[in-house]
Amino acid sequence: MIILAIETSCDETALALYDESKGLLEHVLQNQNNQLTKHGGVIPEIAARTHIQYLTPLLLQLLNNNNLKLTDLSFIAYTKGPGLIGSLLTGAAFAKSLSFGLKIPAIGINHLEGHLLACMITETPTFPFLALLVSGGHTMLIKANSLGNYEVLGETLDDAAGEALDKTAKMLGLTPPTGKELAKLAALSNKPADCHFTKPLIEQNNLNFSFSGLKTAAMLKIKQGKYQATHLAFAFQQAVMDTLIIKTKLALKITGLNQLVVAGGVSANYYLREQLLQLNNHSVKVFFPKLEFCTDNAAMIAIAAFLRIQKYHNCLEQILDQDLDIIAKPRWELNYPRDK
Ligand code: KG4
Ligand code: ZN
Repeated sequence: MIILAIETSCDETALALYDESKGLLEHVLQNQNNQLTKHGGVIPEIAARTHIQYLTPLLLQLLNNNNLKLTDLSFIAYTKGPGLIGSLLTGAAFAKSLSFGLKIPAIGINHLEGHLLACMITETPTFPFLALLVSGGHTMLIKANSLGNYEVLGETLDDAAGEALDKTAKMLGLTPPTGKELAKLAALSNKPADCHFTKPLIEQNNLNFSFSGLKTAAMLKIKQGKYQATHLAFAFQQAVMDTLIIKTKLALKITGLNQLVVAGGVSANYYLREQLLQLNNHSVKVFFPKLEFCTDNAAMIAIAAFLRIQKYHNCLEQILDQDLDIIAKPRWELNYPRDK
């Protein structure tokens, strides 16, 4: 059984091939960083049109690299949501066309579940586990009870952590990939000097986050012109990451769970990785995706599809698309197939 996975929820066009017995064969992706730099952010219409340009060449490249033909495929997995509607529709339409033409089933996957399960490409956490999901659009603490059964314990009340990092990086004049560039700049700071940010909501005994005030504080400090960019980047990164770490520790304490899965683009951050991996010395097993599977990619969509196909093998109709409708869900809750 070979799964082709397609991810087009935002501005990365990504494809992957997953083999039931060999695991991940290969994943490829094309970002749109040049467009991001040119326009100062994602323009949804341009992102969608660019996916259309990239999808077919990437698919041919992937098949060619692996000596496979379209007729070798068994399932087409695609990101059905959440994300930008135009971008999602390009992937959904591409997947459904392949599914129709090849007479093989299509399976819509939740992008957030893809992130949540990304570490399982190489690691083996077992349910139940606590997950910290931090991306450009989401900041969530989740109790993952079983595949498809996720309890959101807390989330951001305003900006996502990644969004705050991106906007602050942009204010510092950095270009895409902004989050990664901010981390690089922060790494150049040997001492954050007197630059200090208050960590939001850490006094509250709940698992919610708020990052928009922090972003405003960064804007004010940048305007003051008093701090070196490296120190500002370090202090800001530290405040965001320490907040994530404090709330994650609280969630581990509240739930009593002893496995932590960290996921989403921000999980690529070296400071967050270093700090949370230290929990391994305190009877918590910590799992991070490999760096290439932290930010948006199709390998995570492939592993989510594979695990679902395995789990539902006796009742596949519950998870596979039943008709040719091309449906994308810009907003989509994590627990499905309850919500079709
Ligand atoms: O998961 P992702 O690729 O896309 C979404 O689903 O949003 O996450 C993108 C986010 C961006 O906000 C980006 O700045 C952040 O992940 N990011 C990082 C790093 N690499 C990507 N943040 C901090 N440190 C990094 N190394
Ligand atoms: Zn993502």
